[in-house]
Amino acid sequence: MKIEGKEYRTIWFDEQNQDVKIIDQTKLPHQFIIKDLKTVKDAINAIKTMEVRGAPLIGASAAYGVVLAIMEKNDPKFIKTSSENLIKSRPTAINLKWAVNRMLKKLSGVNNNEILKVALEEARLICEEDVKFCENIGLNGLKIIEEIYNKKKDTVNILTHCNAGWLATIDWGTATSPIYHAHKKGIKVHVWVDETRPRNQGAFLTSYELNEEGVPNTIIADNAGGLLMQRGEVDMCIVGTDRTIATGDVANKIGTYLKALAAKDNNVPFYVALPSSTIDWETTDLEKIPIEERNSEELSHLEGLDKEGTLKKVLIYPKNSKAMNLAFDVTPAKYVTGLITEKGVCEASKEGLKKLFK
Ligand code: MRU
Repeated sequence: MKIEGKEYRTIWFDEQNQDVKIIDQTKLPHQFIIKDLKTVKDAINAIKTMEVRGAPLIGASAAYGVVLAIMEKNDPKFIKTSSENLIKSRPTAINLKWAVNRMLKKLSGVNNNEILKVALEEARLICEEDVKFCENIGLNGLKIIEEIYNKKKDTVNILTHCNAGWLATIDWGTATSPIYHAHKKGIKVHVWVDETRPRNQGAFLTSYELNEEGVPNTIIADNAGGLLMQRGEVDMCIVGTDRTIATGDVANKIGTYLKALAAKDNNVPFYVALPSSTIDWETTDLEKIPIEERNSEELSHLEGLDKEGTLKKVLIYPKNSKAMNLAFDVTPAKYVTGLITEKGVCEASKEGLKKLFK
């Protein structure tokens, strides 16, 4: 997708410098900065501090983290510890574990002279696959948008939460891919973008990337979605997910669950878009999904441009107030109209998932 008219991906290997390049997402939307990752520590730090974020992208970053570890020290012990640290860098998104385990499986039994080449090929393949999967999610979700458009014969209003756009993946995005496909096809779409406190991924990233692609969108406060649904101003919701378990229950950015409840109460279809790399086949109990708790400073402080255009961070809470920053919640499958995957759309249930992914 484009930034200022130029095609980008969110991560790539730079052959000339022999390092990994990322778009530093902590600086968006005010600054566009490409950052170098040279060591596995850099990769872990980028994931932890959310310079890269979004389940598919942190999976790809972890895969490249394994490559960087091999480049640093081609030693099985170091590769193993680095891999464990990569998996631990954020707890909720399953793509981290999925990507690192896939890398390790591919590398097992490969001799020392070949290992870097094989690792690099596999990390690249993970990225290419993600692009293809997200494109297919778009084509499958497009059919749903088209159906609504054909009935309504007017702009389709879609609500989304957090950033499940191309910035959260390698390209296209998950929740945004059907929207980009509809827009490219000439179907009129408008996106209600939940601001998504506390890190504001909706305002800072989703709105930013939709603007760059010319997709009409409006940022709303996180609590506004319910009212818009009551007023009939939302035709459908599409959100992403950091981990969808085998039963079809969906972990996603905090606040998703409340949107699903409001959607249910107002008969608004609530879809979740995901590549199969986000399915946790081993977990069947939603209470077992680890919920990340982040530093409460993300709540108590806000960063933005002052009048002079300088980036500033300010405290907005009373100095001595305690705050709790839970980063994800779980939406039970019963509130999900369907899962939009690279293989098609299915019911959010064990049976639904099994039908698509045998
Ligand atoms: O904390 P983040 O920004 O890494 O959150 C992850 C997400 O981007 C969202 O939860 C998203 O909806 C699912 S990942 C495509």
